[in-house]
Amino acid sequence: MKIAIVETRPFKDQKPGTSGLRKRVRVFRQPHYLENFVQAIFDTQKDLHGGTLVLGGDGRYHNREAIQVILRMAAANGIARVLVGAGGILSTPAASCVIRKHRAQGGIVLSASHNPGGPDADFGIKYNIANGGPAPESVTGAIHQATLSLSRYHIAEIPHVDIDHLGETRLGEMSVEVIDPVADYETLMESLFDFDRIHALFNSGHFHMRFDAMHAVTGPYAVRILENRLGAEPGTVMRAEPLADFGGGHPDPNLAHAHDLVQQLFGREAPDFGAASDGDGDRNMILGRRFFVTPSDSLAVLAANAHHVPGYRQGIRGIARSMPTSQAADRVAARLGVECFETPTGWKFFGNLLDAGRVTLCGEESFGTSSDHVREKDGLWAVLFWLNLLAVKRQSVEQIVREHWRLYGRNYYTRHDYEAVDSERAEALMKDLGDKLAALKGQRFGDYRVEQADDFAYTDPVDGSRSEHQGLRVLFEGGSRVVFRLSGTGTEGATLRLYVERFEPDPERHNLDTQEALAELIAIAEQIAGIREHTGREKPDVIT
Ligand code: G6P
Ligand code: ZN
Repeated sequence: MKIAIVETRPFKDQKPGTSGLRKRVRVFRQPHYLENFVQAIFDTQKDLHGGTLVLGGDGRYHNREAIQVILRMAAANGIARVLVGAGGILSTPAASCVIRKHRAQGGIVLSASHNPGGPDADFGIKYNIANGGPAPESVTGAIHQATLSLSRYHIAEIPHVDIDHLGETRLGEMSVEVIDPVADYETLMESLFDFDRIHALFNSGHFHMRFDAMHAVTGPYAVRILENRLGAEPGTVMRAEPLADFGGGHPDPNLAHAHDLVQQLFGREAPDFGAASDGDGDRNMILGRRFFVTPSDSLAVLAANAHHVPGYRQGIRGIARSMPTSQAADRVAARLGVECFETPTGWKFFGNLLDAGRVTLCGEESFGTSSDHVREKDGLWAVLFWLNLLAVKRQSVEQIVREHWRLYGRNYYTRHDYEAVDSERAEALMKDLGDKLAALKGQRFGDYRVEQADDFAYTDPVDGSRSEHQGLRVLFEGGSRVVFRLSGTGTEGATLRLYVERFEPDPERHNLDTQEALAELIAIAEQIAGIREHTGREKPDVIT
């Protein structure tokens, strides 16, 4: 096998963001662009030399070409073994599962998550470490540093590698194993959930569901597990075939982008249960018949009912949620007598807590939920968890959630997004508000009195690392709050997120419309922060 050493020059824009390096396809297609980044991974992640690498992606445009390049570079850089998902497919949670199960030293996942795909849309590459989780900042920082001084990369001069047939081939010293992308993941799910019971539920003839795979990576997983294995009727999985451009859609499971699914669940003869997942399979949306479950409530319900599910029968150790996620889960943790952690936004902040065995479940308001079974959020896992609960409880989704509210109280919750705001104006808003926070304490606004107001900072209880400026919070007496944050994942200008939450203990008042229930707090947020004046916007672009 001949290895070429190719001369190259650094690209200055290869700093990974919240979830790896995400750019337009055309950026990745520049000569040497992908190669440079991959070489930086191999140069800095020494454990990979003589070790095992897991490789796959969400099937988006450019996935297959990138896999060929990475295989040739892995062979040239002394990687001993690569496990690649057949067809180049591996969902993010499945990659995490495979890394852990096969004790790989790391994994490369090709995805831009819920961003659109296609020649004019987005591509991405992220590196996961041996625990199966996203690389922490120390690792992404080292990779970025390496990209800034790169002058050559190594690549084997070999023909195209067949990644469509299961089995092992050799590239020089390196072994390439094309693996079934679903098998290990399916085995893991079976070890956690009561498949017989879920099968019986589908077989009862009284239970129907729809799963929207959004033409993204979960299609093959959902068909295999829900339809073939658990007996859901054929056609349960909509948009099941992964397409390079996701069928032109935006593969983000929310009320806006999973439009057909939402229409079915809110229409006549609605099925009992609906769910969707995103581009790379780590997000989830849960729907009942004419009923939307907020991600924050979903986390709380799963935590409160975990003992009904085989994998969590012994109870959970603790719960972690990102700061802007509603405090519904905190109430469950308090009742269970387990620890509850409030972390900054971003899945990577859960990694240490999970590795240290401090928490079992974690979740974020941004449609992410998971547990210690992998080190990523896991869309289909959340769906199977709900299915297991539905099978055990024989209640509707709505009944389960309403019963939860009766017991714990309801945390009314909404998020208002102001997208593509001029960055300077958005930063000015945050600065002005930050300057004002100290003076807010004790002030009364209508029915609400400020108990505390601060700029959220987090000290990781495991390694002591500190993360500052993670969002501005105004906390009111009684548990209500408004939180302001600038998104870390936007690609155009700044996205201002306003998170609003109100705790309502009285079951007589659990039937209000969310926006109405929160109207006073939304007005208070405007009064405190001057969103309209600062952004020049009359109303948010997206309300979830
Ligand atoms: C990604 C991350 C999540 C995060 C979400 C929203 O999906 O994996 O951990 O919650 O982005 O982040 P943002 O900074 O846009 O609010
Ligand atoms: Zn995703």
